[in-house]
Amino acid sequence: MKLCVIEGDGIGREVVPVAIRVLRQVMPALEVIRAEAGWDTYQATGNALPDQTVATALSARAVLFGACSSPSYPVPGYSSPIVKLRRSMETYANLRPTRYLPVPTARQGVDLVVVRENTEGLYVGDERTADAGDTGTATKRITRRASERIAHTAFRLAKSEGRRRVTIVHKGNVMPQTDGLFRRVAYEVAKDYPDIETDELLVDTAAYWMVKEPTRFDVVLTPNLYGDILSDMAAAWGGGLGLAPALNLGEKVAVAEPVHGSAPDIAGKGIANPTAVILSAAMLLRHHWRMPAPADRIDAAVNAALSQGDYTADILGANGMGTDDFADIICAQLS
Ligand code: NAI
Ligand code: MG
Repeated sequence: MKLCVIEGDGIGREVVPVAIRVLRQVMPALEVIRAEAGWDTYQATGNALPDQTVATALSARAVLFGACSSPSYPVPGYSSPIVKLRRSMETYANLRPTRYLPVPTARQGVDLVVVRENTEGLYVGDERTADAGDTGTATKRITRRASERIAHTAFRLAKSEGRRRVTIVHKGNVMPQTDGLFRRVAYEVAKDYPDIETDELLVDTAAYWMVKEPTRFDVVLTPNLYGDILSDMAAAWGGGLGLAPALNLGEKVAVAEPVHGSAPDIAGKGIANPTAVILSAAMLLRHHWRMPAPADRIDAAVNAALSQGDYTADILGANGMGTDDFADIICAQLS
């Protein structure tokens, strides 16, 4: 099995090596191919995502990505490499699970997965300015093709994980031509999965229930922007950003990446929590390589390691434990 590994910037360089260590415990023959991307790469080469990196990712078909720093001001020639990479790899589904983890910041009983359409919606990158900069317009594109394939992903996932219900989240009352289409196609696809219950919520109501009663959610099927926002909200119930995994999935390729960014405030201190990236690697095993048994072992080892600690937040440094100490505990569980 081949894996293209992009550590990226900041804590990406600290947590990704831990995930590789953990993967090697369950996959001793794993072939790791390193590639560069991110802000540091841009500074060194003038290109945040070198062609060589895209070629390596495409040939390996599986990528583990740490995080990259993106400035909040325009930089000529720079755009976020992860957004470009998702597009180059055609990873049309973004799976973002949140389940209860044994830390005080997590909510008992939560076990949901946001299935986010990853290629269109308001993220097609078609924005214009007119009126001497005083009017901005963005295109929101929803297609039958993309809606159909993401709906199938959601229902197949529900089926394979023994889940009961798919909730379609949209704003079709205000945007009947776009979200209305997404909703209609989702209900059509639902007919192929009669054993899975289907319901729907408007996105604002969904946000209310996500905060008030997160345990009512199972699979959430939703367009790009709503999925981005709701999955970060849900991550709070899983214990925090340091614990939230994600997987971008295409037909034959996958990019695993934690939900968090490069965390410049704690980078270089050796205290970043590697749980999010380890659980992302486990998602690669489960959903892309179809190896559920080692994925289960990693999930169990993470649970056991978290249960042993006395964590008051997702930041390990609070109780004197570093990234590598935590990695040692997980690897000991797996050896
Ligand atoms: P962030 O996720 O990097 O950090 C938010 C807060 O969570 C910080 O206080 C950080 O210390 C903490 N945190 C995050 N991950 C943690 C971990 N594993 N262990 C312990 N604490 C953790 O988001 P922020 O600060 O908004 O962005 C920082 C940089 O990351 C920016 O340049 C942004 O563009 C980039 N970013 C990149 C992403 C990606 O590569 N996919 C995603 C989000 C942000
Ligand atoms: Mg986000």
